[in-house]
Amino acid sequence: MKKGIFIVLEGPDRSGKSTQAALLKEWLEAQGREVLVTREPGGTRLSEQIREILLDPESRIEPLTELFLYETSRIKHTLEKILPALKAGKAVICDRYTLSTVAYQGYGRGLDLKTVATLNRIATLDLKPDVTIVFDIPDRIFAQREKTRPGRDRIERAPDAFRRRVNRAYKLLARKPGMTRVDGGRSIEAIQADIRARVRRLLKK
Ligand SMILES: Nc1ncnc2c1ncn2[C@@H]1O[C@H](COP(=O)(O)OP(=O)(O)O)[C@@H](O)[C@H]1O
Ligand SMILES: [Mg+2]
Repeated sequence: MKKGIFIVLEGPDRSGKSTQAALLKEWLEAQGREVLVTREPGGTRLSEQIREILLDPESRIEPLTELFLYETSRIKHTLEKILPALKAGKAVICDRYTLSTVAYQGYGRGLDLKTVATLNRIATLDLKPDVTIVFDIPDRIFAQREKTRPGRDRIERAPDAFRRRVNRAYKLLARKPGMTRVDGGRSIEAIQADIRARVRRLLKK
């Protein structure tokens, strides 16, 4: 049986994660791989219920509660969906995982980064992605995408200063050891080619 691989896509809203996830899935399936595309927060019934609470613009959630809600949803998602799929030899493509919590709740909300790291470790049962692809998008392009598709959910509607902190955090995190930074300001095809090259290396291991 093929070995399971865990691929995480990270970056701010509208950075191209979902677009690239769908193309990567096609490519992996064409190679005879079984693929699971999933997302956070979400992926299981309980996790999708928590997602609704988190993204509802009517919800009033202070930062620490927000952190625990994301992590609670992650435990269930990891246990019920990601780990079984990896065990069955699937390629799992996850749209957001622990780095999102570092960027949004750590850098964005200003929660202690050590607390975030500890909870991330607990909520993932120590599962680490085989590769984390981080989209780095020029601010100018963001501004354009926001105009064409204005945000509606609670996180997308957060103050500009919050979203700027998150975007800056992703630029920083993309350059950390172990991350695969992708210049997201290019064509969909060029970005996909980079991602495929990275995953090809992973598959050869
Ligand atoms: N490389 C790209 N160039 C131009 N537009 C893009 C590119 N990648 C994605 N888009 C468009 O930007 C928007 C956000 O992309 P999406 O994949 O939904 O981002 P995310 O899942 O990160 O929020 C969509 O309208 C998508 O068609
Ligand atoms: Mg998306």
